[in-house]
Amino acid sequence: LLNRFLLLTFADLKKYHFYYWFCYPALCFPDGIHIIQKPVCLGDRFTLSQIQALQKAYDELCHKEGVTALPYFLIKYHDNSVVISPLKRWDGFFQDQGGKVAVGVYDPCNLSHYPGWPLRNFLILAAHKWGSLLQSVEVLCFRDRTMQGVRDITHSIIFEIKLPERALGPDCPKAVGWEKNQKGGMGPRMVNLSECMDPKRLAESSVDLNLKLMCWRLVPTLDLEKIVSAKCLLLGAGTLGCSVARTLMGWGVRKITFVDNAKISYSNPVRQPLYEFEDCLSGGKPKALAAADRLQKIFPGVSSEGYNMSIPMPGHPVNFSEVTMAQARKDVAKLEELIDAHDVVFLLMDTRESRWLPAVIAASKRKVLYHTLLISLSL
Ligand SMILES: *[C@@H]1O[C@H](CO)[C@@H](O)[C@H](O)[C@H]1NC(C)=O
Ligand SMILES: *[C@@H]1O[C@H](CO)[C@@H](O)[C@H](O)[C@H]1NC(C)=O
Repeated sequence: LLNRFLLLTFADLKKYHFYYWFCYPALCFPDGIHIIQKPVCLGDRFTLSQIQALQKAYDELCHKEGVTALPYFLIKYHDNSVVISPLKRWDGFFQDQGGKVAVGVYDPCNLSHYPGWPLRNFLILAAHKWGSLLQSVEVLCFRDRTMQGVRDITHSIIFEIKLPERALGPDCPKAVGWEKNQKGGMGPRMVNLSECMDPKRLAESSVDLNLKLMCWRLVPTLDLEKIVSAKCLLLGAGTLGCSVARTLMGWGVRKITFVDNAKISYSNPVRQPLYEFEDCLSGGKPKALAAADRLQKIFPGVSSEGYNMSIPMPGHPVNFSEVTMAQARKDVAKLEELIDAHDVVFLLMDTRESRWLPAVIAASKRKVLYHTLLISLSL
C-alpha cells in the first residue's frame, strides 16, 4: 500500500509513438516534514563491525521472509548488536527502547543529503503510529549497492525526523507524485520508435493496421484473417491481372501467383499498372515474372511468384510434334499443381477459350473460382 504506482500509457501505432506517464502517489503532511539532524553517511556514524552486523541482520531477515529486498523494516541497535524486524511486527518492538524509534527504508536514491521517494508515505504511517508519543524518528535510508562486484551499504544515510503531532486532518490530504516529462512539464513522456523499426516490418504492420481500421469502420463482420491468408492464383497478368493483384494486395492478401505467357509490349504500361516503359525494352519482359517482381517492390511483405507458361485451349490444337505435345502435357500438369496449391483462382485472360481448362480443373478440386470481365467505358 505504501509503494503503489500508476502508469498511463498510449501507443500511437500509426506513428510508433509510445506515451507513458508514471505516478508514484505520495500523501503530503499539511505542515511539511522537518529533518532535525542533517543526514550523515552510515560509514561516518558507525564502526565497520556495526555496519557488518546491520548488513548481516538485514540479509538474514530477507532470507527468512523469502524476499530479495525489504522495502521497510524496524531497527533496534546497541553498541554491538542489531535487531531487525519486518514492519508488520511493530507492536511492542520498540518497548524496551526508552522512546527511541528507528526505521529502515530501502532507498533507490543516491543523493547524499536527501532521502528517496519511498520514505514519503512511510512517514505518514510513522506519524500515525508514533506521532503522538514521540518527538522524532530515526530513519535509515538503506542503500544497497554493488560496484565492481563489491557490495557496499556504507553510502546509506541516517538522520532524524520530527514527526508532526497531527499526521493528517479529517480531510483527504494533498497528494503529489505525477512525474514531470522531459520538458519539465506536467505531461506524459514519449518514446519515438519509428526510426528503430525495420522499414519492411513497418510496411507490414501499417498495412495490417490500416486493414483493421477499414474493416472496423466498414465491415466489422468480415473475417480478415481468412482474406489475408487466402492463396490467390491469377491466370493472366494483363489489364485485369494487374488491377486484381493490386486490389488483392490492398485487402491484405499475402500470397499471389501469376500465370501468363506474354511479354510486356509498348502499349501495356499505360493500362496495366504493374509495368513501366523500361519493362518493354529489348523485346519486353515476361509479364508473369515482371508482375511478381513489381508486387515485391510495392510491398515486400507479399509473397509473389510468376510462371511464364501457356494455358492449353480447346480449338487451339497443339501440333503433333513430340516437343509441343510434351510441352502441352507439362503445362497442364503445372496448371493442375498450381490450382491445387492455391485457395482461390481468378480467370483474368482475354479469351474465353483459355478459361475453359482452368475452370474445369478448379471445379474438380472445389476451389473458389472468379470469372472476371473487363468492362471498358472508354475505348
Ligand atoms: C519520430 O521520429 C521520426 C523519424 O525520425 C520523425 O519523422 C518524427 O517527426 C518523430 N516524431 C516526433 C513527434 O518527434
Ligand atoms: C516464356 O514462355 C514462352 C512460351 O510460353 C517462351 O517462348 C519464352 O521463351 C518464355 N520466356 C522466358 C523468359 O522463359
